[in-house]
Amino acid sequence: MVPEISLTQSPSHSRHGSNIGQPLTRRDGILKVKGEARYAADNHPPGMLYAVLAVSHIARGRVSFLDVRAAKSHPGVVDVMTPANKPPLAEDPDAKTNPFMFRLDLLQNDLVRYANQPIAVVIAETLEAATEGAALLSPRYETQPPRVGLDSNESFVPPAVGVGNPSELRRGDVEAGLAAASRQIDATYETPTQYHNAMEPHAIVAAWDGDALSIDTPSQGLAMAQGRIAGLFGISPENIHIRSPFLGGGFGSKGLIAGPQILGIMAARLVGKPVKLVLRREQMYGPVGHRAPTRQRIRIGADNAGALTAIDHHAKTVSSSFDDFFEPAADASHTLYASPAIATSHEAIRVDTGTPLFMRAPGEATGSIALESAIDEAAWACGMDPLAFRIRNYAEVEPISGKPFSSKALRECYRQGAERFGWSQRPLTPRQLRDEAGLLVGWGMGTATFPALMFQAEARAVIRSDGSGVMETGAHDMGQGAWTAFAQIAADSLGLDLAQMEFKAGTSDLPDAGIAGGSAHTATAGTAIHNAGTAVIARLEELATNNERSPLFGAGNAGVIARNGRLFRRDDETRSESYADILGHAGLTQIEARGKSTADPASQSTYAMHAHGAVFAEVKVDPDLGQIRVTRLIGAFAAGRIINPRLVRSQIFGGMIWGMSFALHEQAVMDRRSGRTLNANLAEYHIPVNADVPPMEALMIDEHDPYVNALGIKGVGEIGITGSAGAVANAVWHATGIRVRRFPIRIEDVLTPDPH
Ligand code: MOS
Repeated sequence: MVPEISLTQSPSHSRHGSNIGQPLTRRDGILKVKGEARYAADNHPPGMLYAVLAVSHIARGRVSFLDVRAAKSHPGVVDVMTPANKPPLAEDPDAKTNPFMFRLDLLQNDLVRYANQPIAVVIAETLEAATEGAALLSPRYETQPPRVGLDSNESFVPPAVGVGNPSELRRGDVEAGLAAASRQIDATYETPTQYHNAMEPHAIVAAWDGDALSIDTPSQGLAMAQGRIAGLFGISPENIHIRSPFLGGGFGSKGLIAGPQILGIMAARLVGKPVKLVLRREQMYGPVGHRAPTRQRIRIGADNAGALTAIDHHAKTVSSSFDDFFEPAADASHTLYASPAIATSHEAIRVDTGTPLFMRAPGEATGSIALESAIDEAAWACGMDPLAFRIRNYAEVEPISGKPFSSKALRECYRQGAERFGWSQRPLTPRQLRDEAGLLVGWGMGTATFPALMFQAEARAVIRSDGSGVMETGAHDMGQGAWTAFAQIAADSLGLDLAQMEFKAGTSDLPDAGIAGGSAHTATAGTAIHNAGTAVIARLEELATNNERSPLFGAGNAGVIARNGRLFRRDDETRSESYADILGHAGLTQIEARGKSTADPASQSTYAMHAHGAVFAEVKVDPDLGQIRVTRLIGAFAAGRIINPRLVRSQIFGGMIWGMSFALHEQAVMDRRSGRTLNANLAEYHIPVNADVPPMEALMIDEHDPYVNALGIKGVGEIGITGSAGAVANAVWHATGIRVRRFPIRIEDVLTPDPH
């Protein structure tokens, strides 16, 4: 039994109409259940051919031979695209003019820079013929030993991490703080390489018509994809029409358009026909991004009263040999705990891997499982309860910047989460609890945090002469429920019921909805929608209040309220006029307005903006077999205004499952000799299945934030992973007394004899 989410909205929210805050079911639910939601690979334009990638089986070297003749003479094969005959590009795929660009492998030469790099594309009349043709290429290589792992190369300090964060930051004197501490932790944590593993593989159906390009492809950011394609092919962005209504998950891997998607477009250009290219699961382990491994050293000092004196968080990570995305793991220590001295730093090495990319709380997930483990170790060293220790070191202002928080209901998260879990019954000492069956029981907790980001987006609102409305923005639904939440915001902003309004999304021909990433999509596109709706209502208001025959004439400073397709005088709600009448009197068939969203620079520079949460985990560990089971997971989260509590609960649950997955399951295992991933499939790359997932609860704590954006939305996409991973790891320690600092925690890690 999964209890319903608890949600209360403060009275100050009620002015925003009746749809926001409702636990509506998904608008796309029926479509998906019936198999009618059209994903990119479901499209089959007339005359379409099938393209299949051939990928490298080595991680470093060059391709010395491809049997193109054998592939081309295979029945059904139409052409083979190699560096020798690929269509020309207008831009070097290795050029990079902004940090939101990914260097791409587009057959520019015969170099191999990582395993599973595309080395040719076979185009055929059937998928089978293309697959067989690709197998006939029988590549030969000049192989060099691959550089793999965190110790395989000389390290350096990267100029920036993530998408341009400084790689080092400090406040106060960490060495002095550590020297003054009566308790010190100095521990090193390792996190593995992980892959996004969205259910839907990267796919594209591309069709050229002269210089106009029509494509179906999953993308977390349509305008950015459009811009990248325009640059590479030397055509205008308006000539590129991308349809991307639904994504079968993205998790960051579809944030930037990836090389294989561009290869599909090149293949269509080469053969002059529409082409479909879909990655096989194993081909997703290379050219479409992943989470880089990290080794993080954390030093923490605390005084006799359990107050932190210093946090020093140093993260080592990797990037590819040719690009520079570095997992910003140490940045997790910027936000959570008050300390007079904080230092974060990164070092990096280059290895023969596909370029890492943002993945499910990039930096926050890796950094917080290390930080939350270290904080737990510090609490134990101080002889304090881990929750009491965290509250003792509660950050009243953002520690790294000294800025006040725009809002922060973390104390309430701690209180309600702990109460719901029964945390007060937890013995301080590990390995004290057993269940009836003799299994070791452990309780752990972690703090969750994720920045409340805002990007740029635009929306267009229309009111038609029949009183109905339209809202348009180039967003999509990648499984999180955006389509539903945006429609709710749109309906309220237009003062209409959902049934009186159409919400259009899913193509690049609509206004740019920005990127669905950074947990900021609802905040970003939602604000644009809200502003577009507000703007079109303001135009209606102007028409009505200037029309002598309108009941709203002269409403003046009192203004109007939009509700149920009518404008009401704010100071006298008996006087109202319908949208249809207002437009009719003005002789208009429709009225429209656009709305934008962009972060407010004044608020951004004044306030630190983050969502917060507290996660409590119970695990049971078999003392003889080492098997670890998560048996309860309860989180309490404060993330500003909740647009749809049903969908938010689902998002948060997803994040919490990622967290337990991080702590106990996920790991890509590298063959160090070949540089290839040994478990590049969903059978051996472990993720939690239903049987692994315990009963979960997500409590949403009411939080009003007047600064983040007009609606007070903070975002919930990624925060769930950040507290849960550490909570599970800490629960394993509490069950067993064994502190595992290399993730995922494995059976053999907890199979050592009772340490007490
Ligand atoms: Mo997210 S990792 O910003 O899709």
